[in-house]
Amino acid sequence: MDPRPKPRLALTRLFPPDVMARARRSYAVVAENPDDIPADADRIVAMAAEADAIFCAAGDPLGADTIARLPGSVKAIATFSVGTDHIGLDAAKARGIAVTNTPDVLTEATAETTMLLLLGAARRAAEGERLVREGRWTGWTPTQLLGRQVSGKKLGILGMGRIGRAVARMARGFLMEVHYHNRSRLPEELEAGAIYHSDAAAMLAQIDMLALTAPGGGPLTNWLNAERIALMKPGTVVVNSGRGTLVEDNALIAALKSGHVAAAGLDVFANEPQLDPRYREQANTFLLPHLGSATVEARNAMGFRALDNLDAFFSGDQPPDRIA
Ligand code: DGY
Repeated sequence: MDPRPKPRLALTRLFPPDVMARARRSYAVVAENPDDIPADADRIVAMAAEADAIFCAAGDPLGADTIARLPGSVKAIATFSVGTDHIGLDAAKARGIAVTNTPDVLTEATAETTMLLLLGAARRAAEGERLVREGRWTGWTPTQLLGRQVSGKKLGILGMGRIGRAVARMARGFLMEVHYHNRSRLPEELEAGAIYHSDAAAMLAQIDMLALTAPGGGPLTNWLNAERIALMKPGTVVVNSGRGTLVEDNALIAALKSGHVAAAGLDVFANEPQLDPRYREQANTFLLPHLGSATVEARNAMGFRALDNLDAFFSGDQPPDRIA
């Protein structure tokens, strides 16, 4: 029997059952959030009162202010997400708190959601679904809900990390010509034929559809603004599976109203879940509630990966996905 006491863990969310079961087996769970309503900063600080580590998720308010209020017992934060824009990484580093995330395991699920957004927006799936569901469909007509064909179009990708590359691979299945803008050009084998633009403006002027898959934050905040939208061809379709902060909402909504952007597929929003209500009023939006990684497979894998990181940390090893 291992004589060491189990490390104490605060769970800010209700994670998938198999993940909860493993967390309970390996750790002394000192705080939970059974309602699964995102906790505010005060509650997270209170939950952490007796904890050695926090197991949190995307959107939890763990910015620098919250980190400053955490008790000295907290030595690690494992987030159930690849994104870390909800965590004050510098503040954590300064306090010697290790932070880990869950890359890789949600790549395919999030790329699938990106393709769903692209198809849903371009083919007016939400309008069609509402027509049928609300009993307003009076039958097939030659001109009903004509969308834009995705196959064979030019797709621009902002952010050619793991998710962007998986989207590119899937898009090639639709015979799309893939363009991308990234901080730096990828090696040829990762590029897989995608066309690199060091200048975003050059990419925006050529494409028919734009997929935002970058993590957001920092210099990418409000990246899709009025100036960049004006560079795109009239009728471009825009999708966002990265972060809501990539988009300047006033600019995108104005372009959706004018038709300059034909349709937008959005899975992420600034200030979730309080998205700009004007998105709901536009018929040419296809809106999802941050479902990017929402598959049983991905969510279990994310939970296990977060726990692998904590296991490594408390065994004295370097957590594989340590980012601070
Ligand atoms: C992430 O992991 O950052 C996602 O946005 C949550 O699914």
